[in-house]
Amino acid sequence: MDNTELEYKEKVLEAFKEAFGEEGARVYFAPGRVNLIGEHTDYNGGHVFPCALSIGTFAAARKRDDRVLRFFSVNFPDSGIVETSIDDLHPKGKDGWEAYPKGVIWAFKERGMELESGFDMAVYGNIPNGSGLSSSASLEVLTGYIIRDLFGFDKVTNVDLALIGQQGENQYNGMNCGIMDQFASSMGKLDNAIFLDTATLKYEYAPLGLKDIDIIVTNTNKKHELVGSAYNDRRRESEAALKAIQSRMNIKALGELSAEEFESVKGAITDPVCLKRAKHAVYENLRTIEAVNVLKSGNLVRFGELMNESHKSLQYDYEVSCRELDILAEEAWKIDGVLGSRMTGGGFGGCTVSLVKSDSRARFEEEVGRAYHEATGMDCTFYIVSAGDGPRAI
Ligand code: GLA
Repeated sequence: MDNTELEYKEKVLEAFKEAFGEEGARVYFAPGRVNLIGEHTDYNGGHVFPCALSIGTFAAARKRDDRVLRFFSVNFPDSGIVETSIDDLHPKGKDGWEAYPKGVIWAFKERGMELESGFDMAVYGNIPNGSGLSSSASLEVLTGYIIRDLFGFDKVTNVDLALIGQQGENQYNGMNCGIMDQFASSMGKLDNAIFLDTATLKYEYAPLGLKDIDIIVTNTNKKHELVGSAYNDRRRESEAALKAIQSRMNIKALGELSAEEFESVKGAITDPVCLKRAKHAVYENLRTIEAVNVLKSGNLVRFGELMNESHKSLQYDYEVSCRELDILAEEAWKIDGVLGSRMTGGGFGGCTVSLVKSDSRARFEEEVGRAYHEATGMDCTFYIVSAGDGPRAI
């Protein structure tokens, strides 16, 4: 256990004791994620390439004897202690942050695993809120992990934890996300990224042996607030494009198409907006497959180019970037020693991810930071990240 883990373990136990006046809680952790490439492909049957982070969400939890559920978050002290019952879970209700754990409890029940009693849970996360590094997915996977542990649902695998988290998010919270974030959190592996085929859930770990290269996450500090509705719009537009193609070709998802197939069949999509969305989904998937291949062969220069192409496609064709993200990416591209830079996650704010030669890091931070401040009046924040392990008891 490193010092940060120890520090958070103590803090979250303290918060538990203060909120609920009890001791004897167990402490757990689940990571956030950063996606290296493969954006908005996970609900289009394409590939993604994220890694779990060493930051995430911690919780102290303890089973109760009755049907009461109590939640407290150090990150949302104004919400106070939220008290409810396992008999009082209503999808798409007006919940605060606790909607995420509630959605997971609800999804367990939907799968025939009703809890025999309630539990108390105090939460403390170290992912900046609204940064697009999947604080919500980490909270979902964490809740699932805790439920599996406290209630002995031993047959639930870590892949199930991802699916349960996604189900809670889709059906309880009304956000139609794909599987990437929850999968990256529940299946994280130290020093590895996860190459996941979202159509089959087949996956492969790819070692991130990035010698002398840093993965830098830069936060615009603009929260990606509108992401819910705009995200669901993108999903609908992709589905409309798929439907148009299906009138000519027998496919289940845009992720099945090669470039040649797409070019020959794209005329079926008459709506110009849907056409752009499909173009992104198809080519981003192909870029992701190529990116993993070039990483394996050590061609990080090409990997970086693919990241840059990914950003442009998200900017112009999928239209999920924003001015702040574009400034960060474009400023990064100007700097020698930057292999690639792109927005990561759902978009509309949040972070970019950049591969930067270690000896260019100081220049990167100085120049990108200065240009960003001049253009927006805001300060961005830099984090050097490394790929971490999945959820665990600590
Ligand atoms: C959000 C969603 C993911 C994925 C990304 C975009 O993070 O939760 O499922 O679609 O956006 O790649």
